[in-house]
Amino acid sequence: MSPLANVRNDKWGGSLEKRASLLLEVVRAVRSQVGPEFPVSVKLNTADFQRGDFAHVDVIQVAKWLSEEKIDLLELSSGNYDSFTDMRIPKSTREREAYSAKYCKDIRAVVDIPIMLTGGFRTRAAMEKALQGNEVDMIGLGRPLCCAPDGPKKLLEGIIDSLPCYERDIQVGPRWMQWFFGEHTKWRIGWVVRIVAQQAWYFVNEYRMADGLEPLPPNKLGCLAAMRKNRKEECLIARSLQGIQSHGTEYNQKKRKSRRWAIMISLFLFLFLKFGKRSEKFSESQKKL
Ligand SMILES: Cc1cc2nc3c(=O)[nH]c(=O)nc-3n(C[C@H](O)[C@H](O)[C@H](O)COP(=O)(O)O)c2cc1C
Repeated sequence: MSPLANVRNDKWGGSLEKRASLLLEVVRAVRSQVGPEFPVSVKLNTADFQRGDFAHVDVIQVAKWLSEEKIDLLELSSGNYDSFTDMRIPKSTREREAYSAKYCKDIRAVVDIPIMLTGGFRTRAAMEKALQGNEVDMIGLGRPLCCAPDGPKKLLEGIIDSLPCYERDIQVGPRWMQWFFGEHTKWRIGWVVRIVAQQAWYFVNEYRMADGLEPLPPNKLGCLAAMRKNRKEECLIARSLQGIQSHGTEYNQKKRKSRRWAIMISLFLFLFLKFGKRSEKFSESQKKL
């Protein structure tokens, strides 16, 4: 939906109407398959936190169109997949619970479907505050559920008052590397690795729970180790999908292997030619001596 990501110049790109048409077509197709009784929900990102992004007025318009499609729940959240959830959300914003709340009011005014707000909720107090206003009907949770799926039950039963905040504890790399991987890094590559590694940490724990294992705490599973493990697991899954039409990045493992060989051979030839020539020169100068 963001014009920064969608730069197509065919019928799916350009004006907001065209950029939104893929989503609306998908919603229509899903509805036609599942029938009018089956609940259909859409997650809409309210701000990409990039200049020239999916503007607030555009979000309201898309919410209106979705409402006309008779979806059953609209989930509002921040960031886009490109920005790995909250990569570009300013720190001050990210630290506030319910950081997308301000968008709900305007959207509520134009749609009559239930709204779920996701992003940053950790304490019961913040959740109750959001629900007390007229803007939000449901609270959405992401990261806390990746390791504590029983968190909402415990909150509702009054056993706990807040959910775990793993994002504060999962550090990428050793302490002395925080100039590169840390929150305040000036290195974009370090920032990207940090986000990917933290995401992998959540994925590894989700997969563990799916296998009936306990999730590993940050002191038992580092983010970089999780990144390697997750990549390995994803490769195995992707390899098992060979034969299925797919343009996924991990799909063409064989091609990647041959590319790796091609790079190694080129490197070897380059080194051989470079140093081979030098040693010829060296033996010539030796002869002269
Ligand atoms: C491991 C992981 C995978 C996610 N995958 C997606 C995704 O595929 N699509 C999406 O819109 N959001 C995705 N999210 C974002 C969450 O749905 C949620 O919007 C975000 O984590 C903010 O909520 P939270 O502060 O409660 O975590 C993902 C988050 C995590 C941690």
